[in-house]
Amino acid sequence: MASSVNYNTVWTSIFEPVSTFGFLERYGRLSDLTKRHDLPYHVVGSDLAGVVLAVGPGVNRWKAGDEVVAHCLSVELEDPAGHDDTMMDPQQRIWGFETNFGGLAELALVKSNQLLPKPAHLTWEEAAAPGLVNATAYRQLVSHNGANMKQGDTVLIWGASGGLGSYATQMALNGGAIPVCVVSSPEKAEIVKRMGAELVIDRSAEGYRFWKDEHEQDPKEWQRLGKKIRELTGGDDIDIVFEHPGRETFGASVYVAKKGGTIVTCASTSGYLHQFDNRYLWMNLKRIIGSHFANYKEAYEANRLIDKGLIHPTLSKVYGMEDVGQAARDVQTNTHQGKVGVLTLAPTEGLGVRDTAKREQHLDAINRFRGL
Ligand SMILES: NC(=O)c1ccc[n+]([C@@H]2O[C@H](COP(=O)([O-])OP(=O)(O)OC[C@H]3O[C@@H](n4cnc5c(N)ncnc54)[C@H](OP(=O)(O)O)[C@@H]3O)[C@@H](O)[C@H]2O)c1
Repeated sequence: MASSVNYNTVWTSIFEPVSTFGFLERYGRLSDLTKRHDLPYHVVGSDLAGVVLAVGPGVNRWKAGDEVVAHCLSVELEDPAGHDDTMMDPQQRIWGFETNFGGLAELALVKSNQLLPKPAHLTWEEAAAPGLVNATAYRQLVSHNGANMKQGDTVLIWGASGGLGSYATQMALNGGAIPVCVVSSPEKAEIVKRMGAELVIDRSAEGYRFWKDEHEQDPKEWQRLGKKIRELTGGDDIDIVFEHPGRETFGASVYVAKKGGTIVTCASTSGYLHQFDNRYLWMNLKRIIGSHFANYKEAYEANRLIDKGLIHPTLSKVYGMEDVGQAARDVQTNTHQGKVGVLTLAPTEGLGVRDTAKREQHLDAINRFRGL
């Protein structure tokens, strides 16, 4: 019924850092069944809300007619390595990016262990919006596989009004932590305040230049960010840095984490070859943790928070399928807020709500990003 644009749709569309047809070819070499994915077209998209049309053999948990959302972890689980944390499966892939038949389509193909119940108080497009980023933020920030955030932790959140950041901010607030939200405009600052964040840094207004030139960073700028954080927090340093901009911010992120603090990263939007001063890391016993999407349990727990009305979708704008290129362009140019939705089979916005009483209770929060 609906899907959403993730940054991976941008990467696929611009063939950066690699063409995703290579992923399909590699997946196709695995078995006769996976060969079906290796096609001269790639149906992309890693989120969906919709209805189960048919199930294959061996699927007992779901049946035709079930209203669902899908998370994007595709695993084979034939190798022992994946049976503790399924993200460790050697055949772990992101559906609709490293596999074919993704969510930006009228029909999608998923494994049964990608399905989750659709939150009944949300429309199709709202239910499709949190998926990938919500589960990623959950593992990265909350799960013991990520930063294992606790009450009172000070969390620096880059891109706090963006896809990942808008969920990380809500999770920090919900979990009793203190988010320090970084954004790049007064409008975005307003949005994160509307979510309940009190400590906000406008990186454009501050004019941080962490890199002097292409090769060298400026530690004075790291210090300037650190000073700003202390000013806002009343002297506290950062327990957890929620990282994803990568090259441009990583040196600063390592610097501002407090002694024993954690830098947890899931991406490198501005470049994947990072540089940081390792003295600050080892002398201050900081940790860098790599995080990637989420296992089924984490995705389930993240979706449950949406279902319980503890975390809300951050859907700002919805496009039709014919305008999906523009939807992806908005995300690429960073002119969007929160999440950008796409109607795939739903004829109009606003359909799919089954629990109106619950919706009424959370309506303001659900609509916080709409029209921005
Ligand atoms: N590993 C995974 O499982 C996983 C999952 C989801 C996403 N990702 C990756 O994570 C990245 C972010 O995804 P998203 O959905 O959150 O994208 P998004 O909606 O574009 O949000 C990212 C935010 O980061 C901030 N930002 C961008 N460039 C920056 C820079 N150079 N310095 C500081 N801040 C910068 C921007 O906020 P301001 O301009 O307001 O500061 C932007 O809104 C992408 O690279 C995506 O591929 C990885």
